[in-house]
Amino acid sequence: MNDIPSPDKMFMINLQEIELADFPTKGWILDIGGGGEGVIGRLKGNLVVAIDNRKKELEEAPEGPLKIIMDATDLQFLDESFETVTAFFSMMYMDTKTRKKVFKEAYRVLRPGGVFHLWDVTIPAQTDPSKSLFVVPLKITLPDEVIQTGYGVPWKDREQDVETYTDLAQKIGFKFEVGVPQKQVFQLKLIK
Ligand SMILES: C[S@@+](CC[C@H](N)C(=O)[O-])C[C@H]1O[C@@H](n2cnc3c(N)ncnc32)[C@H](O)[C@@H]1O
Repeated sequence: MNDIPSPDKMFMINLQEIELADFPTKGWILDIGGGGEGVIGRLKGNLVVAIDNRKKELEEAPEGPLKIIMDATDLQFLDESFETVTAFFSMMYMDTKTRKKVFKEAYRVLRPGGVFHLWDVTIPAQTDPSKSLFVVPLKITLPDEVIQTGYGVPWKDREQDVETYTDLAQKIGFKFEVGVPQKQVFQLKLIK
């Protein structure tokens, strides 16, 4: 998000680099938290339905997707509406209870065999109370452009790693493989 807090309150990790190649999808793509840089919208354009609970974030995102103000914990779509759901550095903005609700909703709106693609970052437990904001600076290479950005969240009680999401996915009923070694920034492909 774009509000810049004072640097002495930030815990900023090293620059993380992501190469985001196009990937095959069928039909509409539901992008959860699709405001801000709108990265999935940049990649997939008008195939994307970008939902975000903050109007301003959607307004800031590039044109292309259909942008709808909506809370991901209460998706206004029928069951089995989408083949693909994405969350690009959006889950880090949610607490544990919210993440669980969002996973349940993503599962509900996916068709059987549909895929939930998730990109996010390992956030360690807060080690320094004076650092209230955890920030991941990112260089995102898309087929047609390179984006330099940073995503920051309040650090307290926000720890997460790949297992946070594989455990949650398993509980909800998703299938997945964790083949590639995951780094500080990780990617999961969860299948309904
Ligand atoms: C800063 S963006 C992350 C990156 C964004 N996907 C992009 O491509 O730049 C995270 C977004 O998640 C949104 N968000 C957080 N909680 C949400 C929720 N419960 N429902 C919908 N959107 C949510 C925030 O408003 C924010 O715009």
